Amino acid sequence: MLKGKTVVLGVSSSIAAYKIANLASMLVKQHANVRVIMTQNATNFITPTTFETLTGQKCLVDTFDRNFEFQVEHVSLAKQADIFMIAPATANVIAKVSHGLADMLTTTFLACKAPKYLAPAMNTQMYENPITQDNLNICRKYGMHVIEPASGYLACGDTGAGKMPEPETLFEYILQELACEKDLAGKKVLVTAGPTREAIDPVRYITNHSTGKMGYAIARAAARRGAEVTLVSGPVDLKAPMGVKLVPVVSAKDMFDAVTSVSLEQDAIIKAAAVADYRPTVVGAEKTKKSDGNMNIELERTDDILAWLGAHRREGQVLCGFSMETQNMLENSRAKLVKKNVDMIVANSLRTAGAGFGTDTNIVTVITKDGAEELALMSKDQVAHELLNRIFAGKH
Ligand code: CTP
Repeated sequence: MLKGKTVVLGVSSSIAAYKIANLASMLVKQHANVRVIMTQNATNFITPTTFETLTGQKCLVDTFDRNFEFQVEHVSLAKQADIFMIAPATANVIAKVSHGLADMLTTTFLACKAPKYLAPAMNTQMYENPITQDNLNICRKYGMHVIEPASGYLACGDTGAGKMPEPETLFEYILQELACEKDLAGKKVLVTAGPTREAIDPVRYITNHSTGKMGYAIARAAARRGAEVTLVSGPVDLKAPMGVKLVPVVSAKDMFDAVTSVSLEQDAIIKAAAVADYRPTVVGAEKTKKSDGNMNIELERTDDILAWLGAHRREGQVLCGFSMETQNMLENSRAKLVKKNVDMIVANSLRTAGAGFGTDTNIVTVITKDGAEELALMSKDQVAHELLNRIFAGKH
């Protein structure tokens, strides 16, 4: 995802520095050109050799006592950077970069025009000190991105804000910035994902096997491509993708309300959710007690959200539904395209290996009024991009 991109990591002197080895390694695995520049004091926590081994590149250390060639190298590094992230960023480094003070690391940062990120890491009192907060605000004012520190147990024994986020989170920021062209900037996209839960009584509910993976992949891909994404999600075990507005819902009725209240603003709506078609007619106020005989639950239809959207669409809006079938996939899915008045139905069969609930891959057939196109087996992330390419074809 990062082939051809240069990521410059600035490492300053905090115990969190050791975690940057992990970040460097994750970036290298995505084929980024990773360059590390450290303060002298950071070498007390992790050695330049560690970074040189992981990145295959010389690690610059913040001393001016070496040769001239070395001194100009850091400026060329600033020019090569596609992103510059200082992580961990100590109070000292933040104070320097907010005021344009220069040592090797901060000069390189100052000379760099690429997007800049700071991941503060320090003791809670230091972080909350108004001086640090003022300095961070200055950084924000000059367009740097300040990554909120996490709260938790800190190396000094305190518990509070000031913990550098885990490398996985820092990696997400870098991907968000660099992994995709921002070809959907200015577009508003609504995605629904996951199952719905229809209550029987306070204890039990009816649901389905949807895990939300496909919908979350679409939301993530659209956000990485610069779209403003709202993700209306049923209950799932997934983290909201970065930069996405998550609207958690439980029932089909909740989802209907959440989607229809913002539907007219959207350039595209992608309904990957597995919405319950039926719900119990009566929801028990108390837990239903068992008896010896069989029992029946009467069900009533939920509102079809996609059909409502098809009937209330605005000019130019693209509607995309999903269809999961166990038989007659094409025929049934084509019928949905017409009946619900949508532009695209993404059909997948539960009977196909590599497709369906809970998998990380999918095999889908994209059905439009022009015909059906079967895509090869690919990751749900790739499927997400393929779908977005088709949904926004000719709409940039
Ligand atoms: N959908 C919806 N609201 C519902 C039910 C489904 O918006 N109450 C959407 C789903 O999000 C999906 C598409 O409609 O995009 C699926 O169509 P649907 O007719 O529900 O498919 P099935 O339930 O599989 O159809 P059937 O029960 O007729 O097989």
